[in-house]
This record gives sequence, structure tokens and C-alpha cells, in this order.
Amino acid sequence: MMQAFGVVATLTPTRQRPGAADNGGPTDLMKLTKSSVAPAAKQESASTPESARAQSVAAAVEVPTATAAVAKPRVSRRLSRPADDCVREGLLKGKKALVFGVANDHSIAWGIAKGLYDQGAEVGFSSMASLIKRRVRPLAASIGSTFVEGCDVRDDDEIKKVFQRWHAKEGNLDILVHAVAYAEKEDLAGNFSATSRDGFHTAFDISVYSLIAMVREARPYMPPGSSIMTMTYYGAEKVVPHYNVMGVAKAALEASTRYLAADLGPSGIRVNAISAGPIRTLSAHGIAGFKLMYGGFKDVTPLRSNISIEDVAGTAVYLASSLSGKTTGEVIYVDGGFNILGLPVADEQL
Ligand SMILES: NC(=O)c1ccc[n+]([C@@H]2O[C@H](COP(=O)([O-])OP(=O)(O)OC[C@H]3O[C@@H](n4cnc5c(N)ncnc54)[C@H](O)[C@@H]3O)[C@@H](O)[C@H]2O)c1
Repeated sequence: MMQAFGVVATLTPTRQRPGAADNGGPTDLMKLTKSSVAPAAKQESASTPESARAQSVAAAVEVPTATAAVAKPRVSRRLSRPADDCVREGLLKGKKALVFGVANDHSIAWGIAKGLYDQGAEVGFSSMASLIKRRVRPLAASIGSTFVEGCDVRDDDEIKKVFQRWHAKEGNLDILVHAVAYAEKEDLAGNFSATSRDGFHTAFDISVYSLIAMVREARPYMPPGSSIMTMTYYGAEKVVPHYNVMGVAKAALEASTRYLAADLGPSGIRVNAISAGPIRTLSAHGIAGFKLMYGGFKDVTPLRSNISIEDVAGTAVYLASSLSGKTTGEVIYVDGGFNILGLPVADEQL
């Protein structure tokens, strides 16, 4: 049980410059590029000239008959539409999303961005400026996105600029994803009572206030039916060793979600939080012993499975879509049922 809890004590970014740590490699990016939808679109456009040539040859040699005169031209339905449109169907077709918090292709924010894109949404990105060139831009390009803006969420002006640029380039915003958190390493270990004042402020500024500031700037551009979501963890509700100040920050984030939901509800804008189980992200990898603790979670959570960024993306798509049209101010768990357990115990301990 403690092992599983310990996993999650490692879920916040570690001491490196906020947002600047980087453990993903070029291999990951290559893998991702290969599996992106781009090849499908390429295939479509590559076959178009051949088909067009074949059709024009056929038209030239065909002898008009009564049947031929009434027959519709045999243009493939697939090819008669823009290539991109062929793969952009989905629950979120026509929606525009802005995602904060991609550090690399292991980030929950990236899983969500890909999930939204796969369901037809157009997705833009904002991350720490230091991550943009090597990490975020290639990922964005793999899903055809050109909106990539740097932003340190400690700075109100930077946040404001991101939304102003979004509005100037993209117009309205239907989906806002906040997947950003940070606490100093020394405040994520040892006694909670040793938390420094500065460390407390930093954790709350980056992990909680940033949501409020983003919502304030995004609100004017979000039409009724829009959806905002943030990422939280069970350590907000129950004590998780070493999670310390981040647990308290997540509690404040969940409370902020409810207050924002009440605030924006009359405008038809929903605000929810996803409480994810432990996932191997950049933040999590910075902690010694994470692998061992991660394994413990799988042994005790009711669905006996670890959580992936794709699992979180599924719930994010639901929250972004009209399927959740009457759900706001909620914390929705994607943790294999871990939160329902009063006493998490592995099979071999029973
Ligand atoms: N990994 C998990 O197991 C897990 C579980 C539950 C909730 N969460 C939450 O999910 C969210 C995303 O984390 P992740 O696990 O994908 O890790 P991640 O490291 O991939 O993402 C964290 C992001 O926060 C950004 N960030 C930190 N300080 C910033 C600043 N000052 N300005 C702008 N961006 C800043 C980082 O650059 C990074 O992109 C966080 O809120 C985290 O607490 C994670």
C-alpha cells in the first residue's frame, strides 16, 4: 500500500527550473512522428494525381451512351474531400483547443492534445519558452499545429499575451487544458511542517493561481458550451507521503475548480478536474525509486493496471465534448478505482 502511495509522492515537477527539465529523447519524437496521422494525409494527396489522371483518360475514351449520360461522375468520395478532412471526423470536429503543459511526449498534456486532435479538434500549445524549440514544436507539427507560444505561468502578462495571440490568430477558444504544476524538491520530502514560505508560494503560484489567471484571460473568447479542465491528484484528499505541499496545492486547485465552475457556469462554460493515478512523466521520473513505487500501484488498484496518458485523454475528450454538457465543478478520477479503496492490499497479501 505504501509503495503505491509513494508513487504519487513523486508526481510533481522537481527542483530543476520550472518546466525546464527534459528527459525525453529524439527516439520518442521519431516514434511519435511515425505514428501520427500525417502519413494518412500524405497517402491521400499522393494518390490524387493518379486518380485524376485515370479519370480524365476514362472520360476521353468513353463513348457516350444513355446510361453514361445519367451516371454520376465516378469521383471517389474519399478523394473528393480535402485529405485532412478524411481523418478529422470525431466528437470534437470544429472545436479549437489550447493546451498548457506539454514538456515532452510523455506529458499528460500531450496525451490530451493528441486525444483531442484524434477526435477532430484543432489544437494549439503553450509551454515554457525553453521547451518550445526542441520539444513542443516538433510534437505540435506532428498534428499539424502551428500555434505554439512560450509562457511562464508565474507572469500574468505572459498569460494574457498567449490568449490575445490566440484570439488574433484563431478566434474563439472551445477547450482549455491546464496541465501545469511545480514545487521545490525540498518541499516534496520529509516533514510537511518544514515547508518553507517561499516554497509554499511557488507551489501555489504555479500549480493553482495559474488556472485562475488562465481562466480570466480565456473567458472573453470562450463561447457557451466551452470546456476547461485541470489535472489533480488524490493527494489533495488523503495524506500521501512526500506529496506534502503539492497535496495542499491540489486541494486548493480542486476548490478553485468548483469556484470557477460556479463563476463561469452562467456563461455556459464548464470547469472540471481530472484526478489521474500515477503516470511516468518527466516530473515523476525525477524521483529515485519511482519504478518500484509505480509497480505497487498496479498491484492494488481495483483495475490492476497502471494509468496511461491515453487513459487520461479519453476522459479529457469526454469533458471537452457535449457528452459532458451538464457536468461542471467535478473531480473525475482516472485511477483504476484506487480512490475507492479504504485499504489497498495486493493479492499476495490477502
Ligand atoms: N504524472 C502523474 O502521475 C500525475 C498524476 C496526477 C496529476 N498530475 C498532474 O498533471 C499535470 C501535468 O504533469 P505531468 O505529470 O504531465 O508532468 P510534466 O512534467 O510532463 O508536465 C508538467 C508541466 O508543467 C510545466 N510547468 C512547470 N512550471 C511552469 C511554469 N512556471 N510555467 C509554465 N509551465 C510550467 C512544465 O514545463 C511541464 O510542461 C500536473 O498538474 C501534475 O500535477 C500528474
